[in-house]
Amino acid sequence: MCGIFGIITNQDIEIGKLALEGIKRLEYRGYDSCGIVSQHEGKLHVKKDAGKINAINKKLGLDDLPGKIALAHTRWATHGAPTKINSHPHFDCSEKIAVVHNGIIENFLELKERLISKGHVFKSDTDTEVIPHLIEEYEKRGLNFQEAVFEALRQCEGGYGAAICHADCPDKIIVVRKESPLVIGIEDGKTTYCASDIPAFLPHTRKHYVLGDDELAVLRPGEVDFYDIKTKTLIEKSPKTIDWSVDAAEKGGYDHFMLKEIFEQPQALKRTLSIPLESLRSFAESLITAKTIYITAAGTSFYASLAGKFIISKFLGIHIQEIECSEFQTQLSDCLEKNSVIIALSQSGETIDTIEAIRWAKESADATILSITNVVGSSITRYSDHTIITRAGPEIGVAATKTYTAQVLTLAMIGLEIARIKNLESSEDIKSYKKALNEVPNIIEKFLNHNIEHIKKIMKGLEKIKFKKIKKLGNKDLGKKLNNKHNFFFLARGISIATAKEGGLKMKEVACRFIEGYSAAHAKHGPISLVRGGFPIIFIAPPDDTYTRLIGNVAEFKARGGKIISLVVESDETISEMSDITIRIPQPADRFHNLFSPITFIPALQLLAYYAALDAHLDPDQPRNLAKTVTVH
Ligand code: AGP
Repeated sequence: MCGIFGIITNQDIEIGKLALEGIKRLEYRGYDSCGIVSQHEGKLHVKKDAGKINAINKKLGLDDLPGKIALAHTRWATHGAPTKINSHPHFDCSEKIAVVHNGIIENFLELKERLISKGHVFKSDTDTEVIPHLIEEYEKRGLNFQEAVFEALRQCEGGYGAAICHADCPDKIIVVRKESPLVIGIEDGKTTYCASDIPAFLPHTRKHYVLGDDELAVLRPGEVDFYDIKTKTLIEKSPKTIDWSVDAAEKGGYDHFMLKEIFEQPQALKRTLSIPLESLRSFAESLITAKTIYITAAGTSFYASLAGKFIISKFLGIHIQEIECSEFQTQLSDCLEKNSVIIALSQSGETIDTIEAIRWAKESADATILSITNVVGSSITRYSDHTIITRAGPEIGVAATKTYTAQVLTLAMIGLEIARIKNLESSEDIKSYKKALNEVPNIIEKFLNHNIEHIKKIMKGLEKIKFKKIKKLGNKDLGKKLNNKHNFFFLARGISIATAKEGGLKMKEVACRFIEGYSAAHAKHGPISLVRGGFPIIFIAPPDDTYTRLIGNVAEFKARGGKIISLVVESDETISEMSDITIRIPQPADRFHNLFSPITFIPALQLLAYYAALDAHLDPDQPRNLAKTVTVH
């Protein structure tokens, strides 16, 4: 929710251009308005408006700003409509103090009333605007810029990652953090950056610090000092180095980050497979000794948890209860057992509902928190007893793709480590599962490569192809065909229900289509009434234990005139024969590979959603109303 970027330098560089590039790399966090302010010769220069960054840049020339200090913001509106007046930066009455902010100041109404009674004049409907006015108020009482920020922040309840600059202070930017993420990048002796996420300054430096909760940092060119907001004392911090490559955060020739990240999955998953054994073991041991285990997450991470808990429970022999993070406390308020183990999944590590769930579980039941995230140093890691980083690399597309498969793979690896420790499976079987798991990246690679060629070939003769005659169709064409229909289902049984649900979420998210992922068995109890002649149903059909019964479900929907599209393995005969269209996943039809089919089958549905979005003239990287990281309740 909102991206902030700041830069202070002693170099001769185009400050506006760098600030613009910085927020462009954060646009996945929100894109309904944006703005940049720079400080030059005792004045603040601002350009801001409602709309997407490129359009505003074209109109206002955001990259053309003077000075050695700039703050930039890209917004996902919470308080106040996405208008020019509500876009950041926000200012005090004298327009000498500028603030860009990500988060929510929960007590802003009360603060605003107090400030208005003291004569402050507000221009926007945002919660953010109280910050510069509070700072101004403390400066009026004789405090310097830094002291005034300390005092102002002490009045604010809620969450913030904010950067502040001052027309009269050409030597510093002040940044503060509580709950909302903030990282600081350093080019020693030259330039210092702050941002909501590392990719924003990755082309300039890998050396960074993660600002902690209730911390304030004073940025100077190539230097930074950290303070505890509550005690105002200096804090020592060591810098970290991120090993992400710059290319990983760029589109690299692809039209969209979503497509790039779908195609990055084989490489990302190879990295995930190299997660150290010790990390997997500490998770496995905590789970083996646990009496009660819950798994919690939001959105795509929640669907990854549905697939992953299936694999872990199989080897652990204990049921793992999944609960959406936003429901966690409500559902367990009277019954969370002491010493429960909670697995929390979050690609960003910043989803507020997930963080609240684990914080509450820790405080109220001394739960052990095992978290899986893609972002080193993210908030979730601070509330966890053990953390595994999934190693998918930066994910910029709002729709999670490679981080989903990396999460399921990580959970599968934990499952296999449990199997090894518990000796539940024969060592031969464990070897076969491991072999199958190691083959996952290659299966996906083969599928994606084959698919591109297939799409190219089919595209040429597409106009001549009649829908009914198509037995095999590339995902791009399929997306086109399905766009002519209003609704359809993704149906599955067993572990593949997670795939159906995640496929449905991708379609809703990027193609704005109400496509429901559902249990094929349960669909008979109501949803089947939607089926009529030509109604498309996509069955996810790996040949696992549920296959025979799924055949029955396919027959039921076919008998009612449904258009059957199936995702099957290469050697499939039965369900593919019953289908109007098949998509074949190049994986062997054995129980070892079947267990990991949530990872190998999902890229087909990711591509389908991607092409359906393009066909509907939607931007898959910037879905309507969404932001990648949801840091509000
Ligand atoms: C996924 O495509 C969505 N952008 C969304 O559902 C996301 O998975 C959810 O907000 C959870 O995010 P997290 O994994 O960063 O916690």
